[in-house]
Amino acid sequence: MRNLLVALLLVITTAAAADAPRRPPEAAIASAHPLATAAGHAVLNAGGNAFDAAVAVSAALSVVEPYSSGLGGGGFFLLHRAADGHEVFVDARERAPFAATHDMFVDEHGEPDTARMREGALAAGIPGLPAGLVHLATRYGELPLATSMAPAIRLAREGFEVDRRFALLTERTAPLLQRHGTTAFFIDGRPPQAGERLRQSDLAVTLEAVAADGARSFYRGEIAARLVDGVREAGGIWTLDDLARYEVVERRPLIGHYRGHRIVTAPPPSSGGIVLLATLNILSGFDWDALDGAARVHLLAESWRRTYRDRGQYVGDPAFVEVPVAQLTAPAHARVLRGTIDMARATPSASLPPVTTRTESTSTTHFSIIDVDGNRVAATQTVNFRYGAGLMPAGTGVVLNNEMFDFVARAGTPDGFELVSAEANLVAPGKRPVSSMTPTFIDGPRGVAILGTPGGSRIITMVTLAALDWIGGTAPAGIVGRARIHHQYMPDVISYEPGAISDELAAALTARGHTLRDTGRRYGNMNAVTWEFEDNAVNAATDPRNEALVDF
Ligand code: GLY
Repeated sequence: MRNLLVALLLVITTAAAADAPRRPPEAAIASAHPLATAAGHAVLNAGGNAFDAAVAVSAALSVVEPYSSGLGGGGFFLLHRAADGHEVFVDARERAPFAATHDMFVDEHGEPDTARMREGALAAGIPGLPAGLVHLATRYGELPLATSMAPAIRLAREGFEVDRRFALLTERTAPLLQRHGTTAFFIDGRPPQAGERLRQSDLAVTLEAVAADGARSFYRGEIAARLVDGVREAGGIWTLDDLARYEVVERRPLIGHYRGHRIVTAPPPSSGGIVLLATLNILSGFDWDALDGAARVHLLAESWRRTYRDRGQYVGDPAFVEVPVAQLTAPAHARVLRGTIDMARATPSASLPPVTTRTESTSTTHFSIIDVDGNRVAATQTVNFRYGAGLMPAGTGVVLNNEMFDFVARAGTPDGFELVSAEANLVAPGKRPVSSMTPTFIDGPRGVAILGTPGGSRIITMVTLAALDWIGGTAPAGIVGRARIHHQYMPDVISYEPGAISDELAAALTARGHTLRDTGRRYGNMNAVTWEFEDNAVNAATDPRNEALVDF
């Protein structure tokens, strides 16, 4: 019977796809900042495609949202080229410098030294974003970099009006910036207030150099020398060779299927695609529509508990460790995991084989784009924590990431029980840290959804919920605005946004053995673009948390 239903669904999907409009009626861009969205539209209006617009949005975010992402950080760009259906994942993730060692963040007592992973010169990986922008423009764009980066250069040089979010987040991060002598985001030596104009002339010069000369202007020559000098003066280990040898990697996206939909998502070094697809694979063995609210949350928590454990166990930079992607995302593996789920009772995470992961993160940004030809971009980029390492090498305007904090300092649990598992994400020279960033496309009978969000380890559960909502027929505003729940194996709790779990639901989950934790604040900042086939309409949906100044 089930096979018959699946076959029927496939027929319906294929028929619907055949009737699908060939082109969206208009372009759409959803990003975390109106000035970045405007930069993207300006470049589309100048004759650019979605990939040029992605360069414009990304570069503009570096200027107007520098606490989330920028030239000193990295990102992932998931692309779909309409002309030939080419799908590619452009990995512009930071890398550890070549002088990095596996125990560089372990103190003399053998304990993780997270302070040095979190801020200052050792926390910063070699940035990938500038190379990513050049790669996008030269490989997939139609316009010169100078055109697609022009709005960002103007915003840096002429300045822009600081909004409430910028003012609030800079105020909150002022001590970090002050500790590292970073004043580029201040006016008259203090965090700016909303409505004040902030100019970033050093950043303008760096952006102009990249626009004029491409990657070599950042990774070699004067800017590279300034970056290395600044890092080394602050006690870091970067060399000119680290920058000169940085490379973007083109990867094949992960592809999965769920209820007649095709999911295109992030491969390693992101853990996002593996966890997303493995979770959907587990869910596909249940009749989701027939489950009540408590059963749905229980099933999600039990699925995430298992798929996040796999994440900690197996995922690392594929250039350094063999990640069993095919096995982890195979229906057979989901069947095994599903078989261990008791729908009446929570499985304590401690009863699963242990791993140690540290996946919290508080910044990052995501944008989604579709152009009138149907080219698509889902891009998530980051400096990791708010304002990254807090360090800005003199004369560059570039605040450096603290992506080294996405590695684990030491394999094993806090009591010293070492496990091969967590070694997959130990520091190594030239290695990329595991990420949770999950830029994703969903294709199906309803149309196309382009999804992603910041939010550290919660990114993957947010994208899972958004995928379920899209597939279930929720309107775009409902998808980005919905109340969120999360489980990530360890800590063994279902965390939830205020209001996401009613008293009745909480009682039902507690009775099943779950521990619940109200996060006390909303989180995430999802920017989704959708293209619905029935009325051939596109929509750019931005997360209401952005306006509400939620500190994701
Ligand atoms: N730095 C956040 C992430 O890559 O998941």
